[in-house]
Amino acid sequence: MYKILFVCLGNICRSPMAEMIFKDLIYKNNKRFMLYCESRATSTEEYGNNMYPKAIQILQEHHINVERNIVSMVKKDDYTRYDYIVCMDMENYYDLLSIFQGDPDNKIKLLMSFTGRDEEIADPWYTDDFDTAYNQIEEGCTALFNYLVDKYNENAQNEQI
Ligand code: 4NP
Repeated sequence: MYKILFVCLGNICRSPMAEMIFKDLIYKNNKRFMLYCESRATSTEEYGNNMYPKAIQILQEHHINVERNIVSMVKKDDYTRYDYIVCMDMENYYDLLSIFQGDPDNKIKLLMSFTGRDEEIADPWYTDDFDTAYNQIEEGCTALFNYLVDKYNENAQNEQI
């Protein structure tokens, strides 16, 4: 099984949007045995809060099931708990490098890098552009999902040989 941790600054917009979109892909494609994900913040700004209402709204407009998400912070031992630590922008990336004191297993990835483009996802909490954020996150999550399903199936085939 692959365990994925989505990370952003506040854990009220981008990373829980990624978590809900990725869970939607997992459930609709019956991959619960293969993939697991959660989301966390690098900052304490929104600790204990639920998702930002506009983030919930855009997910609901796209018929994505929204679970309750109470903000929690990335901890150092998350590095060993997860296989992929997937962040939204370079600020998250450098914050994660600092929290984990490095990335020896090359686990920290930008979400959009799975699309082949090293784009950042601008923070909709500041831009108020939830459509652009949704479209990017949906594209990134779909690319990550396809990448991991292919990788899992390749490994399973090799084990049978
Ligand atoms: P997010 O957006 O990182 O996409 O969850 C933010 C929401 C709130 C804050 C920062 C980023 N904040 O500092 O309160």
